[in-house]
Amino acid sequence: MHIGANVTQPIIEPFPIVMSTYLEPGWIERFAELWEKLGPETKTAIIDLLGEDWSFDDKRALDFGCGAGRTLKHFRREAERAELWGVDIDAMSIDLLQQTVCPPFHVIRADYMPPLELDADSFDLIWSISVFTHLTDSSIPWLLELHRLLKPGAILIATFMGRWTSELLAGEPWDEDRVGMNVLRHNHPASDGAPLVLISDWWLREHWGRAFDVIHIEPNIHNQSWAVLAKRADDVSIEDIERPGPDPREYLALRHNLRQVQRELEAAQQAGREEVHAERRRGEETLAAAIEAERRVYEQSLSWRLTQPLRAAAKAARDYRERRRPR
Ligand SMILES: C[S@@+](CC[C@H](N)C(=O)[O-])C[C@H]1O[C@@H](n2cnc3c(N)ncnc32)[C@H](O)[C@@H]1O
Repeated sequence: MHIGANVTQPIIEPFPIVMSTYLEPGWIERFAELWEKLGPETKTAIIDLLGEDWSFDDKRALDFGCGAGRTLKHFRREAERAELWGVDIDAMSIDLLQQTVCPPFHVIRADYMPPLELDADSFDLIWSISVFTHLTDSSIPWLLELHRLLKPGAILIATFMGRWTSELLAGEPWDEDRVGMNVLRHNHPASDGAPLVLISDWWLREHWGRAFDVIHIEPNIHNQSWAVLAKRADDVSIEDIERPGPDPREYLALRHNLRQVQRELEAAQQAGREEVHAERRRGEETLAAAIEAERRVYEQSLSWRLTQPLRAAAKAARDYRERRRPR
């Protein structure tokens, strides 16, 4: 197999939208529209990475974190000669796929944590596009679940991010030495892009490499890195994968992730303070507008207008007394 020898280049031009606007309001809609269009290219990338010798004939393959089928649905032709599965945690996506593309595809819903009700050692291929880019505490458990599902020697293609999007996502230039598996925006919901997980090549090789042979890392397809891995038959636990290696970058990366989280906390606190001030200002403005409106109604009332000459006379008398007062 000539993994990675023949990846169609360039897959796409760099994202056409100015990247720095990506995480501003409305970014997720803009991104989703562009992302959907890249489905066919994503399929091409998977096939290219599998190499010329790969065939789908009589194979069993799984798209882990398939979403609404952005990539999976383009494998309809292959689904006639292979058994193709999609798995996602999102019930709406799974329902939609069930109604629209099953058969020939098979889909099931996942929980937050493994396992899946699928047999061990039963898949020839699993791909997982832009999923480990968002998994935090469940990342290694899922990696090992995919390991369980694959036949010995079978292939996992999983994308990860950081190198190409550090400035955008972490607000800092990429520095391989201070990134292991660094988690940003830990508590963001899926509707706001989910947590963001930055992974470096050395960390992936060190940790994922304890369960898989790292055959190839394709550096940049759609601003993510693509790891092509082959399952090693070893029995590996979550602790085995997570344990820090001897590389001093392990500590630097943890230390740096702590700083990143501190920055996020401070930014969230500042945003909270600004929101309280803005809320108070809005309250004061609303109250002032209500008083002003009431005053206008009162001034336009009939009794106010009828008594206007009396108030004018009283004012004239006050002014007169004021002028005559000895100084
Ligand atoms: C950025 S989307 C990518 C979707 C799809 N792979 C694609 O390339 O368009 C991440 C996907 O991972 C799914 N996901 C998150 N946690 C999951 C879990 N525990 N099990 C299965 N899917 C999960 C999300 O629901 C979402 O569809």
